[in-house]
Amino acid sequence: MTSLERLQALEREHLVPAYARLPVAFVRGEGARLWDADGEEYLDFQTGLAVTSLGHGHPAVVTAIREQAGRLLHVGNLFYSEPGMQLARRLADSSLGGKVHFANSGTEANEAALKLARKARPKGTVVSLHRGFHGRTYGSLSATPQEAKQAPFAPLVPGFRAVAPTAEAVGGAVDERTAAVIIEPVQGESGVHVLDDELLRAAREACDRHGAALIFDEVQCGLGRTGTLWAYEDAGVVPDLLTSAKALANGLPIGALVCSPRYADVFEPGDHGSTFAGGPVACAAALAVLDVVSDPGLLASVRTLGARLAEGLAALPRVIEVRGRGLMLACELDGGGAPELVRRALREQRLVLNATGPATLRLLPPLTIGADEVDDALARLRAVL
Ligand SMILES: Cc1ncc(COP(=O)(O)O)c(C=O)c1O
Repeated sequence: MTSLERLQALEREHLVPAYARLPVAFVRGEGARLWDADGEEYLDFQTGLAVTSLGHGHPAVVTAIREQAGRLLHVGNLFYSEPGMQLARRLADSSLGGKVHFANSGTEANEAALKLARKARPKGTVVSLHRGFHGRTYGSLSATPQEAKQAPFAPLVPGFRAVAPTAEAVGGAVDERTAAVIIEPVQGESGVHVLDDELLRAAREACDRHGAALIFDEVQCGLGRTGTLWAYEDAGVVPDLLTSAKALANGLPIGALVCSPRYADVFEPGDHGSTFAGGPVACAAALAVLDVVSDPGLLASVRTLGARLAEGLAALPRVIEVRGRGLMLACELDGGGAPELVRRALREQRLVLNATGPATLRLLPPLTIGADEVDDALARLRAVL
């Protein structure tokens, strides 16, 4: 029995079958490279779904984790600890000002945003967009209008309404009963759709007019992924509440909600919380991540290499459309077959990427890659296409 077969047998017997795993077990990573148990090397253009944005084993992150883990792992939120307080300051200073509430994941950060918005406008409704994805817990799922994900878990949280991702639809959906509009400025799970600046502006204006909170979910598109620290910078539309997770600690679980000054003191002690949230190790890692992703040189490289990757993708056979910004890209394939292509890329070319639909490939490489790795990935993809 190979080590992969052993793991597959364990999974069959002991794990709830909630994931469709690809047949590989990674044991080690460095930069954009991964290795399996047989020593085979892979090129990672998936980063655990936009999580290991600084690549595997980034020295600054590893050092921060090692040092903090050796000093103190956990105290909980009934006490103070340095990394969480420092990280809150860094996150707020880099975005909305105001204050931060920590969570452990993207869905929990959104859950906090939705609860906070409803506390600010009791019994208020929430408007979300078609193609949006905000997570799997009940509040976030209720804002994720996808039949297949919602239907088995009905009834969902009341008071949620989804509209088409257009300026008119969003503008028309907000009134004085609306607590929040929740939007991914660049929609990730639906296959990388960059929303129009006009739509974001319409949402901002409608929220201002009716006193609703504009929530930007930057769980996937934030932290340098699109070439600016926060995706909203590109459109110049500033939200009231901003959520982050995924890449924030480069692989350790963490989520954060940044509240603009207007919303900074809506939660009071006892309103919301989570045992592990804001733990010192994850926060120490996140401080190291922020140092790296705030570097203008890195952000410029994300834009340059993103353009190189997009251009290369557009020139590949069967690619009929390329979407995205920075190093958050997707391409549409003539004739479909994206999930099978992902399997072949993994098996035949040792290239790791993912499919978000029957005809859609998504590429989320580390932000720290070089031009040679972009060209290498394109050559591997060309070989399977
Ligand atoms: C935009 C967005 N929001 C929220 C989530 C949920 O994050 P998590 O899986 O950490 O709960 C995701 C995950 O893919 C996401 O892409």
